[in-house]
Amino acid sequence: MSGFSSRTDFPRTWNRLARALAERKARGEPLVDLTESNPTRVGLPQPAPELLATSEAFTYAPEPQGLLTAREAVATHLASRGVTVSPAHLILSASTSEAYGWLFKLLCEPGDNVLVPAPSYPLFEYLARLEGVEIRPYRLPRAHGFGLDVEEVAAARDARSRAVLVINPGNPTGHYLHEGELAALAKVCADTGMALISDEVFSDFAWDTEPERVSTVAGRSLPMLTFSLSGLSKVAGLPGLKLGWTHVGGPEAVRDEALARLEWVADAFLSVGTPVQQALPALLAHAPRFQAALLRRVKENRRRLLAARPSEATWDVVPAHGGWSAVLRIPREPGEEATCLALLEAGLVVQPGYFYDFAGGAFLVLSLLPPADVFESALGPLVRTLAQGA
Ligand SMILES: Cc1ncc(COP(=O)(O)O)c(C=O)c1O
Repeated sequence: MSGFSSRTDFPRTWNRLARALAERKARGEPLVDLTESNPTRVGLPQPAPELLATSEAFTYAPEPQGLLTAREAVATHLASRGVTVSPAHLILSASTSEAYGWLFKLLCEPGDNVLVPAPSYPLFEYLARLEGVEIRPYRLPRAHGFGLDVEEVAAARDARSRAVLVINPGNPTGHYLHEGELAALAKVCADTGMALISDEVFSDFAWDTEPERVSTVAGRSLPMLTFSLSGLSKVAGLPGLKLGWTHVGGPEAVRDEALARLEWVADAFLSVGTPVQQALPALLAHAPRFQAALLRRVKENRRRLLAARPSEATWDVVPAHGGWSAVLRIPREPGEEATCLALLEAGLVVQPGYFYDFAGGAFLVLSLLPPADVFESALGPLVRTLAQGA
């Protein structure tokens, strides 16, 4: 259609699964939703609402990078995880999604590209496109537990690649970056002039310990420009409050230039509300309570899922180390869509792997967030339907 930019020409057709789900909902038939990923809807602890009502809530004295008290609260939060950063190297935005947009503006000319992992959460394609930026996927090989393989990154790169995006841990694959992988990636970035954008929104949600695990790239001395992203959305389970943060690191001169430019970008929007910035110290003080409850929930649901799997099953739970999801590998026949439709018939909603750009087999993605009784009620129909080969 003329008169609109091609950047907003998104496909709006419904796939078969979306149509079948809408029909089932319209018929009022019961459903157990194993795609629920909204932490405010699953009975996890929330902070006292009074926290947002500070006496200064209506005062407007914006700072483009975010109020210093708020940035200091982020630095304190990171310090509690053993990471030392300066508040001067932090920039607040309304969300990590917005921060991606700012970073693409900072790093890319229209037509440049960023390298993004596949499989991963299907967000970056849209955010990049809105900035006139292209994405080039690099595969996370299943043989490598869906971990980063630097050869794949190097193979995906071309002369217009400006940054590599790493989701640490992967969503939905739950694989953390390891020290050796980061060292190899840093070399490729430094040799080719690419920045590293590290999405660490799930990094506080580890299920176990791994000796070689990298939890964040913030506060490290790396040879390339690095951006480490997180926010209240996952860290405190408060996506509706709209506050994310980006830590900028790397060699001093280029880091300071990036910060100065990002300050201009942030100043053009001033998008973070004052009350949430003022309440940030108290909101982050609540985060450990939320995280402990979420981790108990997710680990227990995963344990039940593994226990429910019959030993002769033709499907498996993909090994992972953290996050909010479980990935099932299912037989290629009848495959993802037919299995999702059969599960829908049995009253369960799950996501097909193609939603996350999985390759090399058929996969399903389940949220581990639902309350234990809800999750438990799904396991019988799940196991029965998968046993029937859909
Ligand atoms: C890996 C990843 N990064 C970023 C986001 C977006 O988070 P925000 O609410 O801060 O924009 C999501 C949302 O689920 C996500 O899964």
